[in-house]
Amino acid sequence: MTSDRYAAAVPFYDLQHEDGHVPVVRELLPPLLTGVGRSLVELGAGTGLITELIARETPAEIYAVEPSLGMRSVLVSRLAALGPDVLRRVTVLPCGALDVRVDEPVEAVVMISVLQSFAAAERAELWRVLAGLLVPGGRLVFNWRERATPVPGGLAVMDSYQVGRHTYEIAGQVLDVAGESVSSRFVYRVLRGDVVVSEDEVAGVNHWPAGEVLSSELKEHGFVPGEAPEGMHVWLLPE
Ligand SMILES: C[S@@+](CC[C@H](N)C(=O)[O-])C[C@H]1O[C@@H](n2cnc3c(N)ncnc32)[C@H](O)[C@@H]1O
Repeated sequence: MTSDRYAAAVPFYDLQHEDGHVPVVRELLPPLLTGVGRSLVELGAGTGLITELIARETPAEIYAVEPSLGMRSVLVSRLAALGPDVLRRVTVLPCGALDVRVDEPVEAVVMISVLQSFAAAERAELWRVLAGLLVPGGRLVFNWRERATPVPGGLAVMDSYQVGRHTYEIAGQVLDVAGESVSSRFVYRVLRGDVVVSEDEVAGVNHWPAGEVLSSELKEHGFVPGEAPEGMHVWLLPE
């Protein structure tokens, strides 16, 4: 997927995710990267919230893969603000995960809150590509939790943030559920009091396979499970 379905969400992204998965990942990810010192790929780097963490926690060269122009723009601005050491170590790849090419295989692939973008058929290709990116003994690290099947319903405000005189509001609606695939729409609004300053809508489908489905797909592609805390997965490519 290389289209910019995230464009309307970009101004809201850091507000919402500083409040969501990012603080948890800041705690759980660093120990899972122990020993990674040469290079890694981060898939779906977004605005760079996790890239910044990885750059701080490892001395490795980072390939940050991000297909969305909007997300990537914030990512590169963040790298610039972090300074010359980070700018020297992070290469931003403007493509989707299935098109990633690196000069030498890497020690780790990190994928935070990205897996849901891949439908079952695409995941088979994803695991094949990721196995090809890793050195023998390399590790794949991602976050994943079992979740209850959502129920289609009405549009509801999920989060709102004050930015100066404006309120940034995110509303979501589950439209349809078909097996592991959930169709939703999100409305991103900027308000001044009750007056709508801007409103954008994003619709899309995310995929939430059960844990045992993921495990059997990964084993089929040659990965073996590693130790990881609740909410995270580590899968190793045997030596
Ligand atoms: C929910 S955001 C997560 C961003 C970042 N990892 C974080 O945790 O803050 C998902 C990101 O995955 C990216 N993405 C979606 N499909 C992708 C694909 N096929 N390959 C690589 N990245 C993808 C999106 O553009 C978006 O930036």
